[in-house]
Amino acid sequence: MGLLLALETSCDETAAAVVEDGRLVRSSVVSSQVDLHARYGGVVPELAGRAHLEALLPVVGEALRGAGLDLRRPGVDAVAATVGPGLIGSLLVGVAAAKSLAMAWEVPFVGVNHLEGHLYAALLEEGDLDFPAVVLLVSGGHTLLVSMTSPGEYRLLGRTVDDAAGEAFDKVARFLGLGYPGGPAVERAARDGDPAAVAFTRPMLNDGLTFSFSGLKTAVVHHVRDHPEVSTPDVAASFQAAVVEVLVHKALAAATASGARSVCLAGGVAANGPLRQATLDACGAAGLRAFLPSRAMCTDNAAMIAAAGYHRLRSDGPSPLDAGAVPSLAFPVS
Ligand code: KG4
Ligand code: ZN
Repeated sequence: MGLLLALETSCDETAAAVVEDGRLVRSSVVSSQVDLHARYGGVVPELAGRAHLEALLPVVGEALRGAGLDLRRPGVDAVAATVGPGLIGSLLVGVAAAKSLAMAWEVPFVGVNHLEGHLYAALLEEGDLDFPAVVLLVSGGHTLLVSMTSPGEYRLLGRTVDDAAGEAFDKVARFLGLGYPGGPAVERAARDGDPAAVAFTRPMLNDGLTFSFSGLKTAVVHHVRDHPEVSTPDVAASFQAAVVEVLVHKALAAATASGARSVCLAGGVAANGPLRQATLDACGAAGLRAFLPSRAMCTDNAAMIAAAGYHRLRSDGPSPLDAGAVPSLAFPVS
């Protein structure tokens, strides 16, 4: 039951990976649709679904070949796919393909929660993760603080009440005319700016483990409208510093509150350089271990889906073939 093929098509990356025993990545292929959506300034669901349809089989073929497997009889023990949360038209492409392959190869199908997948990024790259761990999961759609006592055992400690951290980066980037995707664009612009130039409020800094980013985004808009002469790199750097400070402060507070021994980053925003550095510094000062998955593992990929699928299969068994995709699937708390 050790070799899994996993498919990930929840948003705008078409990805397939082959992973052994939930740990050893034999291949991981990601085909990005960034160029397709860039001129619209965001993901267009209709286009995303069609692009997944075109890209999926070549991507699966590349993943199987990359793992040294035969395309007709690859000998995988199960096929996993992200079943939610995500865009329905995109999810359905991966789910239908995974079920078809599972039926054709007469192996189990296992549906995976995309958010749970992100939690496995650090586990895949770090053999000796220190549990209990606090995972700060920051993506385009979610901002969660999760306590993880072992693979599959989670407690939700905090979340955002409005925009996700990545969503705030994307909206601010669009407002500043920095392009798409927003996170990397803000990070690039911020390199030439002064993070102390504008003193944006740190939203809900001392307000428990709940996040809020929509007010900060509005504060950026107001500041630029009131001070049209302000430099864009200064605004980008000041906005980024506010987001990073809040994220790191609450991740450390969550670690203290839950008795964690380590802090892991996960999700696309975890690719952010200043966030990674601030997490390392804060963990060092607090005597906690920091696990920062590589940037490729932070953003959407299928290796993390395979790892989560491997553990789900062991704990819950195969998913029924008539189970559908669930666009608003909630975070799986145990
Ligand atoms: O996890 P992910 O690839 O997809 C979702 O599941 O949402 O995360 C995408 C999000 C986007 O909002 C993107 O702007 C943000 O992650 N992101 C970043 C960086 N790279 C990606 N945000 C800040 N800095 C980055 N370097
Ligand atoms: Zn994601």
